Amino acid sequence: MISIIFCILALALAVYAIVKWQHGHKSDPDFLSQFFPDKSWSLGDDGESNTEVINFKINISNAKLDDLRSRLDLTKYPVASFSTSKFNYGIRDDYIRKLTEYWKNEYSWKKQEQMMNKYSHYKTMIEGLNIHFIHCRPKKVQEEKKVILLIHGWPGSFVEYLETLDRFTTPTSNGGNETDAFTVVCPSIPGFGFSDPPQKEGFNGFECARVFHKLMLRLGYVNYYVAGGDWGSLISRCMSLMYPSCVNGCYTTMLTGSTGGIEMLYLVISAYIPTFFYNKMESKVLFPLKALLTNSLLETGYFHLQATKPDTVGFALSDSPVGMAAYIIEKFSTWTDLNGRQADDGLLQNNWTFDQLLNNVMIYWWSENITSSLRFYKENSGNRKLQPGFRLKVHVPAGYGWYPNEFIPTCKRWVENNFSNLIHFTYMKKGGHFNAFEVPDMFVEDVRVFVRKVEALRSEQLSSNLYKTKPVKLSHLDRYKT
Ligand SMILES: *[C@@H]1O[C@H](CO)[C@@H](O)[C@H](O)[C@H]1NC(C)=O
Ligand SMILES: *[C@@H]1O[C@H](CO)[C@@H](O)[C@H](O)[C@H]1NC(C)=O
Ligand SMILES: *[C@@H]1O[C@H](CO)[C@@H](O)[C@H](O)[C@H]1NC(C)=O
Ligand SMILES: *[C@@H]1O[C@H](CO)[C@@H](O)[C@H](O)[C@H]1NC(C)=O
Ligand SMILES: *[C@@H]1O[C@H](CO)[C@@H](O)[C@H](O)[C@H]1NC(C)=O
Repeated sequence: MISIIFCILALALAVYAIVKWQHGHKSDPDFLSQFFPDKSWSLGDDGESNTEVINFKINISNAKLDDLRSRLDLTKYPVASFSTSKFNYGIRDDYIRKLTEYWKNEYSWKKQEQMMNKYSHYKTMIEGLNIHFIHCRPKKVQEEKKVILLIHGWPGSFVEYLETLDRFTTPTSNGGNETDAFTVVCPSIPGFGFSDPPQKEGFNGFECARVFHKLMLRLGYVNYYVAGGDWGSLISRCMSLMYPSCVNGCYTTMLTGSTGGIEMLYLVISAYIPTFFYNKMESKVLFPLKALLTNSLLETGYFHLQATKPDTVGFALSDSPVGMAAYIIEKFSTWTDLNGRQADDGLLQNNWTFDQLLNNVMIYWWSENITSSLRFYKENSGNRKLQPGFRLKVHVPAGYGWYPNEFIPTCKRWVENNFSNLIHFTYMKKGGHFNAFEVPDMFVEDVRVFVRKVEALRSEQLSSNLYKTKPVKLSHLDRYKT
């Protein structure tokens, strides 16, 4: 009986989706034009009067460290978790107590700060916001040929990419071939980490794309690659849509954009014959359909909250380091492995060290502005006017890393539907949502292979004279050249 109701519901949903999709596809061709004009996101008037790029060192004051210490000492724990429950009720108190003890007694922020400061950090003012970023260059290559922008997501930060930086700048594969060395720019999204929070409504992925593009131009990079998962994949996508003549290639690990249309029907049909439309690996993450639906309900409560009323929960998170840690770290459990819900420790200990998890939490704590990171959900997903933008196809060369434990599962055809020029797609053997953090070697290697493919194509097309880049609007460039 249940399965008949389910089937009818799914069919109704599919029909609705197809109708919506057909309708939605007549999207406004000028959609993007609203995002090109400069804006200012601060309440002051200091748009871009100062284009200096300033050295930045993370240096948290003793007063802030003492404040954190006293808050950790004063932690009021909630009622103990049930002895029978796992992470299915949310993060368990015994795990959090253990983490907090470690935080107080063993974790050394100063040591972690030093580690982070090994990389060169900078800040520069764009559209009224101080944008923080790491900038790493290869040691040997004189000419910077391959430049990549690595964009984090939520609840991540630039910390997700720290372990990839040296790997990108110092190639070891391909015989340590120097042509494989990258220049890396790794920013904090405005409102995250050490970048200022927007002080006006409306800072979404497309606005962020313009800000990051200006950052690249200011650093002198007219052509570059973009990469990311989570919000990083959305922003990469937006940059590829808005600046196709500057973005050489777009590499993502999570599919953003709407799923709809005929694909919904395929899904329902395949609930009975899973391997008809999907290969083995794909059907393993997509079916049974009931689990897919259940998981997407069980894992997206935070999303609904943050896309509707981010400011409210922000009060609690900003006031309590342990509360914030619990909220953030719970995501590292299931988003690394959905089975974490059924484990006493959320399977966190298998994949993450306390130091890794706390480093990321600390970036949110020091920013004192987790609310502004939550608002990014409201600005993107809570804004219906952006829907046509999420249906636009990306035309720059694209690569995709398919990770088996990505909690938002996808298949190759969906990715192909969203990128007209998908030249690289890899089914990774392991890893989940925070792949660059979790399996940095695999992540970097796959990006490298993708970029090699793009470069090969470009030189082929250049030599046969087929490849014509659209000229970059110079008025745009003059102002930001260093
Ligand atoms: C951090 O700032 C303090 C002063 O606030 C200064 O004494 C110290 O040298 C700085 N540390 C680093 C690593 O820059
Ligand atoms: C380095 O790699 C490039 C492109 O993959 C290739 O053309 C070149 O021959 C390689 N150089 C060496 C020294 O292996
Ligand atoms: C992305 O793929 C999904 C699934 O095939 C599809 O419904 C959606 O329309 C695609 N988006 C674009 C922009 O093509
Ligand atoms: C948090 O946001 C406020 C308001 O925009 C800003 O003034 C403050 O400097 C931010 N805090 C930090 C630590 O960046
Ligand atoms: C994460 O832990 C699981 C065991 O819970 C293990 O099977 C998996 O390989 C780990 N992931 C990575 C990327 O090492």
